[in-house]
Amino acid sequence: MSQNPNEEKIREHTFDGIQEFDKSLPNWWLFTLYATIVFSIAYWVYYQKAGIGLDQEEELKAAMAEIDENVARAKAEAGVLDDDTFAVMAKDQGIVSAGELIYTQNCSACHGANREGGIGLALNDAEWKHGSNPLAIKKIVDEGVATAGMPPWGPVLGDEKVNQVVAFLVSKQVK
Ligand code: HEC
Repeated sequence: MSQNPNEEKIREHTFDGIQEFDKSLPNWWLFTLYATIVFSIAYWVYYQKAGIGLDQEEELKAAMAEIDENVARAKAEAGVLDDDTFAVMAKDQGIVSAGELIYTQNCSACHGANREGGIGLALNDAEWKHGSNPLAIKKIVDEGVATAGMPPWGPVLGDEKVNQVVAFLVSKQVK
């Protein structure tokens, strides 16, 4: 076997008549290796250690939440009144404080200053005799429960104020 003068030296040993060059790793290869190591550490810190990056599940959840919120907002703008709309209203500080004022003036006498109940049922717990979803609450506030002493508020307050007080209750709701 003739040795190429440009190649580095051949190693001493022979295996079954096969000899090897003694060459160092090419720089492009080494730098690629170092780059992957640096990348893997950065990746590990970003996703696992510091928890800055979202994993797939969290990313999906965030995206779905954003879609839900946009749908709810579009419905609210279009004047559709459903449980989603109330969820959006319950996050609107203006609506919630208007509702709180209405509550204090009209409801606290029977339901308590902190919604703890009294003559009326407690509205600060997870128990809702007539249903816990916003539309069910709205129906009770609108129509009252004649047989049980809950007055109908729809005719007294009007739709906007009823919605505000319901949004206030929804904002405080414990599930
Ligand atoms: C005169 C007393 C009285 C006032 C004032 C009153 N409520 Fe009630 N409310 C009651 C009673 C009594 C019940 C229980 C009805 C039943 O047992 O079915 C009730 C029930 C409710 C429920 C249903 C609770 C559940 O567990 O399902 C909601 C919601 C409610 N009231 C909201 C309001 C709001 C909002 C106002 C103010 C705008 C208000 N109430 C004012 C007496 C009152």
